[in-house]
Amino acid sequence: MIYIAEFGYSKKVMEHFMNPKNVGVIENPDGYGKVGNPVCGDLMEIFIKVKDDIITDIKFKTFGCGSAIATSSMVTELAKGKHIDEAIKITRSNVADELDGLPPQKMHCSNLAADALHEAIKDYKNKKKK
Ligand code: FES
Repeated sequence: MIYIAEFGYSKKVMEHFMNPKNVGVIENPDGYGKVGNPVCGDLMEIFIKVKDDIITDIKFKTFGCGSAIATSSMVTELAKGKHIDEAIKITRSNVADELDGLPPQKMHCSNLAADALHEAIKDYKNKKKK
């Protein structure tokens, strides 16, 4: 793992924090997920557009820390273009691993991103059933 020594953040975390991908809101999303982090009170929202069960667009908005921003950016990159059945398998630890790890005290931050993605996919599936 490559860490920025004194803070314990990997280079990838810093890149995604400084230059996050897929920030924003999708109007009339096909799926929407919102979760709060009970540890710190931060919030995460994820919006998805889906065509033929493929995530064609995804955006996030967060009221969260740098690690939450970096993990959200990464989760949106991982999920974009994936079939919803694949995207729902993206776990909290997948996200942290893809970022070359997070400092232990920040692992809870990666929960927000993965959980919000799962909520957005569930919302999409529920809407589809109606
Ligand atoms: Fe709240 Fe990181 S401290 S999500």
